[in-house]
Amino acid sequence: MFDFTFYNPTEIRFGRDRENELAALLKAARCERVLLVYGGGSVVRSGLLERIQRQLKEAGVAFQEHGGVRSNPVLDHAEAGVQKARSFQAQAIVPIGGGSVYDEAKAIAVGAKSSAPLWAFYTGRTIEAALPIYGVLTLAASGSEMNGNSVLTNEKTRQKYSFSSRHTYPRVSILNPALTATVPLDYTAYGAVDAIAHVLEGYLTKSAHAPLPDEMVEMIVRSVMRTSDRLMEQPDDYDARAELMWAATLALNGLTPAGIGPYSFPNHAIEHAISGLFPDVAHGAGLAVVLPAWMRWHSQKNPDPYRQLAQRLFGIDSPQGGIAALEAWFRTIKAPTRLGEIGIDAAAIAPLAQHAASLCESWGLEGYDEATLRALFEAMV
Ligand code: NZQ
Ligand code: ZN
Repeated sequence: MFDFTFYNPTEIRFGRDRENELAALLKAARCERVLLVYGGGSVVRSGLLERIQRQLKEAGVAFQEHGGVRSNPVLDHAEAGVQKARSFQAQAIVPIGGGSVYDEAKAIAVGAKSSAPLWAFYTGRTIEAALPIYGVLTLAASGSEMNGNSVLTNEKTRQKYSFSSRHTYPRVSILNPALTATVPLDYTAYGAVDAIAHVLEGYLTKSAHAPLPDEMVEMIVRSVMRTSDRLMEQPDDYDARAELMWAATLALNGLTPAGIGPYSFPNHAIEHAISGLFPDVAHGAGLAVVLPAWMRWHSQKNPDPYRQLAQRLFGIDSPQGGIAALEAWFRTIKAPTRLGEIGIDAAAIAPLAQHAASLCESWGLEGYDEATLRALFEAMV
């Protein structure tokens, strides 16, 4: 095991009806003016937003709304949220939705406490403060509910960049698995792929021999596969929704990389180039295309973790066989595995490679020059 620092201050309130605790939580924290952040309407249709608003009114917590967060959230909309938070003098930001809503809420929480341009925080400026975040998660995927990361797209440059800060861990995230029962099967599948990608990035690129982290990763992948298989048959199975939700949270809350030494997140850099340039591509769908191609290429350099993955997850002896089995499973949950299936044709490979190369460079990833990336994208056609 390498030395490590594990830091995670987010309180998780998990279970049925736990969103009913939101107003009391805010009151206890003396947050009496809050900005409610939500997406394109799923929380309106489900009645969740209205229930939360009623609860806040009864408790005397004043609120303003910032709806319309796009999947793959964008800078302009986040800046509008910062203005609202400032003029309303919000004391806390309350995301109600999936990872996109959480990520934009984090952007607003930071922007409201600083006069610097918001994009500066996505291009290296240090975050010194943020409003507290109290959220209600409705989709199992990103892990944003229990980490300090935020990913945002600058529509003008099509850069999809991120920050990570100790100040933007949600104070509390409420996870009621029943709220995820309405997530469509395609987004359920994309969320599953995202959670698997989160744990495999470290597993496959780590520096140290790490039996405990490896077993935690394998356990999470197994759990995500089992529960997703179940949900493809029975989308409202509470136990499967619950296990998937917790597995996705654990997949990116800092737990699994503890002790593995330096590691990298190349699939995410490559995917962020895809969904930056093509904002209609869901992050998990992009990852389902990137992962198999990247794994085939990377396993030539470093076959050991692939052999272990193949053996332990699929009972197969060859690294290539394990990758093929994972890709075949992506197909069984109807996740795309080729660029054409996400609406991208070969003509886009050159700009994608250029975009990904600059993102990889800004993440400090070595060995991802434009030519290498072009070959990788060609393997995804
Ligand atoms: O916008 P609404 O109407 O709410 O609909 C959303 C959206 O269309 C819908 N949805 C959410 N909960 C639902 C629901 N539909 C029905 N019932 C519900 N209960 O699902 C769609 C996708 O939502 P979104 O929030 O975009 O998905 P996800 O949670 O996968 O988040 C994706 C974003 O997170 C970023 C991605 O890059 C992408 O921008 N990531 C954030 C990370 C982080 N903060 O740590 C790490 C990840 O690697 C990822 O990069
Ligand atoms: Zn991800």
